[in-house]
Amino acid sequence: MPSVLVTGGAGFIGSHVADVFLSRDYAVHVVDNFSSGRRENVDPRVRLHELDIRSPEAARLVAETPFDIIVHLAAQIDVRKSVADPVMDATINICGTLNLIEALRQSGRGQRTRFVFSSTGGALYGDFVDPPNVENYPKDPESPYGIAKLSAEYYLAYYARVHGMDTVAVRFANVYGPRQDPHGEAGVVAIFCGRILDGRPLSVFGDGGQTRDYVFVGDVAEATVTAATHSVPRPERLDARAFNVGTGVETSVTELARLLRRVARSEVTVEHLPKRPGEQQRSVVSIAKAGSLLGWRPRYSLEEGLSRTFNWFAERHTPNRERAAAGSGGQR
Ligand SMILES: NC(=O)c1ccc[n+]([C@@H]2O[C@H](COP(=O)([O-])OP(=O)(O)OC[C@H]3O[C@@H](n4cnc5c(N)ncnc54)[C@H](O)[C@@H]3O)[C@@H](O)[C@H]2O)c1
Repeated sequence: MPSVLVTGGAGFIGSHVADVFLSRDYAVHVVDNFSSGRRENVDPRVRLHELDIRSPEAARLVAETPFDIIVHLAAQIDVRKSVADPVMDATINICGTLNLIEALRQSGRGQRTRFVFSSTGGALYGDFVDPPNVENYPKDPESPYGIAKLSAEYYLAYYARVHGMDTVAVRFANVYGPRQDPHGEAGVVAIFCGRILDGRPLSVFGDGGQTRDYVFVGDVAEATVTAATHSVPRPERLDARAFNVGTGVETSVTELARLLRRVARSEVTVEHLPKRPGEQQRSVVSIAKAGSLLGWRPRYSLEEGLSRTFNWFAERHTPNRERAAAGSGGQR
């Protein structure tokens, strides 16, 4: 039976990735410290290791267990926290990643174990390029979070070229779907679902014309598993083994709010708050490379993904539950 380690497997995306591997008869291990992950996200068939990715115990697990695949999703995911405390962010997102990949190198299995890293399509390319962003575009991240993700990608490319390790990066656009934390900064769909269920207005910053590439978590999990199992190009430059994972469709926050109210059959209003300084206006990724080299394409339309997501939140809704102030979608 092939085996996989999913770090961050109690979290939003990680738990869906673990579920896809389970459905394909993998022995699934999860490392998570439950800083934002939840126990109810973890399938009982998973072998759970409650560890911090920065710890010697996590390094030992990687060094001593012959995993076929490691999917590394555990991270500090809040862009604003990275701005407030870049050292904390780098400790988890750079040093934590390095702790695992270096343990894999030292084990001598780096050429046989594929290491898939969850990077960002929203926070990597910055504002100097015209979207849709293609993998080999210049990168000028606007946040410590984006810088840490790019740094980790440089380590991946280094380990692949110099040590012959089997590394791949998947760069996610704005992911939404069941199990997303409605209190997170970038989970605008989860936040809007909560607001609709509470009968409160949807808060939009500025004129709502800012765009994002919203991709359903089921599609992201399939893309990640495909990147973990498919043949990939030879390691060359930084972007050779990096794949954008999105839809290629640009949707404004105003349109998102309209669609979500439609699928929810809700008449809550939209309230406009002052524009947030420094907020990126347009973001969308090209997914042509994942299509041509991995054979992956998203299957869910935005409307269908929103409908599934809203229904999931509605089934679990506790009336009048306090929700964090809504956002217009940060860039992770
Ligand atoms: N959600 C998005 O739109 C998006 C976009 C781009 C990239 N990503 C990346 O995808 C990955 C998963 O994100 P998510 O949205 O599922 O977030 P999430 O917070 O739901 O998942 C992260 C998981 O990692 C765990 N974790 C955090 N720090 C840890 C540590 N030091 N040791 C062990 N476990 C730790 C958390 O408990 C949580 O279960 C992250 O790497 C994130 O940067 C997400």
